[in-house]
Amino acid sequence: MRRPFVAANWKMHGTASFVEAYLEDWRKTGPRGVVDVVICPPLAYLDRVAAAWGDHGVQFGVQAVHAEPSGAYTGEHAAEMARDLGATYAIVGHSERRQLFAESDAVVAAKFVAARRAGLMPVLCVGETLAERRAGGAEAKVLAQLDGVLGRPGAKALDADFVVAYEPVWAIGTGETATPTQAQRMHGTIRARLGEVGDAFAQSVRIVYGGSVNVDNAEALFTQTDIDGGLVGGASLDAAAFAAICRVAGRRTDS
Ligand code: 13P
Repeated sequence: MRRPFVAANWKMHGTASFVEAYLEDWRKTGPRGVVDVVICPPLAYLDRVAAAWGDHGVQFGVQAVHAEPSGAYTGEHAAEMARDLGATYAIVGHSERRQLFAESDAVVAAKFVAARRAGLMPVLCVGETLAERRAGGAEAKVLAQLDGVLGRPGAKALDADFVVAYEPVWAIGTGETATPTQAQRMHGTIRARLGEVGDAFAQSVRIVYGGSVNVDNAEALFTQTDIDGGLVGGASLDAAAFAAICRVAGRRTDS
């Protein structure tokens, strides 16, 4: 049985006082033990969050890393630096990075390798745009993004120490979620592609869904066979709502 996984992607939101208040709420409502919970705050708050929350059954991640371990890359941060600040996960290939910061599949693959080099578990985001879905190219797009990483030397290292997040671009921040059936179909397709590498490998990689996940739709999504949890944006900014979503994912273990 794959352990459920839920990550909060705060994106570029939060303040020092927001972090304090969030922790207070999490102390009252946060689930423990049943699910891997990862908070990805803005890097500026990572050490504050990690220091304050170390004993609350939560792990931490960064929303992006640079591919190089150091160098003249003003404004960037290396995976190793994120690790120093307390991260154990790194989101790579988020659609906002691909679209707004022009990250190609090759760049994403290099960042995937960099995360592993630093001992961070990559959360690899894949997903199609609305135009690609309408043109019937959703699966081809997602598989190409996956292959871009699996095919890269050094990326494969065939253990299951990474998470795939299927995030249809049209469902991010729009309030429009993929239906459970649409999402399950794509997750099944992703797992089948992982199965070409190895059966045990495919069965152990967590594949989570992202895109307007909230308390109301989490149950229908997380009860699908191949949906092992979620990558949550907007709804993760409310600690009680995020805790409730994590608890729903935890029920996968109970069943
Ligand atoms: P929303 O949950 O706000 O749609 O964001 C999803 C996302 O991009 C998580 O990485």
